[in-house]
Amino acid sequence: VNLAERVARVNWYHTMELPGGIVTPGRYDTRAVPRRLPFPASLTGMRCLDVGTADGFWAFEMERRDAHEVVALEVSHAGSWDWPAPGPSGTHRRNGPDNAERAFSIAAEALRARARPVEMTVYDLSPGRVGQFDFVFVGSLLLHLRDPVGALTAIRSVTRGELLSADSVSIWMSLAAPRFAAASLRAVGDPTWWTPNVAGHRRLLRAAGFEVIEGGGIFFIPAGAGYERIRFQREALHPHRLALRIGMKLLGAPSTWARAIPAPSGTA
Ligand SMILES: C[S@@+](CC[C@H](N)C(=O)[O-])C[C@H]1O[C@@H](n2cnc3c(N)ncnc32)[C@H](O)[C@@H]1O
Repeated sequence: VNLAERVARVNWYHTMELPGGIVTPGRYDTRAVPRRLPFPASLTGMRCLDVGTADGFWAFEMERRDAHEVVALEVSHAGSWDWPAPGPSGTHRRNGPDNAERAFSIAAEALRARARPVEMTVYDLSPGRVGQFDFVFVGSLLLHLRDPVGALTAIRSVTRGELLSADSVSIWMSLAAPRFAAASLRAVGDPTWWTPNVAGHRRLLRAAGFEVIEGGGIFFIPAGAGYERIRFQREALHPHRLALRIGMKLLGAPSTWARAIPAPSGTA
């Protein structure tokens, strides 16, 4: 089976350019996103960790920047997710990690990547299990977790250098209460738990013992060719969700980023 056929057989989260002019039909198109973040231009000699790697886009970006070693963390069965029971959209099923694992290996093989896939939930990260890392990326994961502070605390335990966190935020809560750390809770019939505002994102990091050294405003992660069609008739029953979907399609997923380092103990 050739590469194009293998690519066509799985659902893709990431849009990635593979050899032979093949572009994976990702649900999201993160290709331009590294330029919008302070993603280090060089990771030469560093041990790097990508938490919740999905199809591996960020892990492969680390490798491209000469990381010495890249560990790509993922959970490969839906039972290990915090996501509540499948919602009406069922999208998180279709794009489930079983599939992502396969997409990851197809991409890794095609790109001759050395990133090491590790099967582990973020909550289980510990220096004893995986060692420590000079650079850690966690992208669009916190919103899917019941306990984002617990996850960040585990990430902190394996961060000896710097963390770059880029995650979904609520636009309206960021505008309405810029100085107030807040989060909205969905959690029912929807694969997201908490959506903080920008201040809330920083607060989650600090609550987990990180010191935020730089933070950005809101940027958008564009939808890709694989983003599902909007089914207006069905979604019309849920105006809020319909508005989110249209916004997603047109602008992308509103997100923010922050660079953080482990705070000296006691000062978090
Ligand atoms: C929305 S995707 C984001 C992918 C990628 N990090 C990015 O920023 O483009 C979230 C990924 O995290 C994975 N995930 C969900 N729960 C997890 C957990 N408890 N531990 C580790 N990964 C998890 C999902 O399987 C999915 O691949």
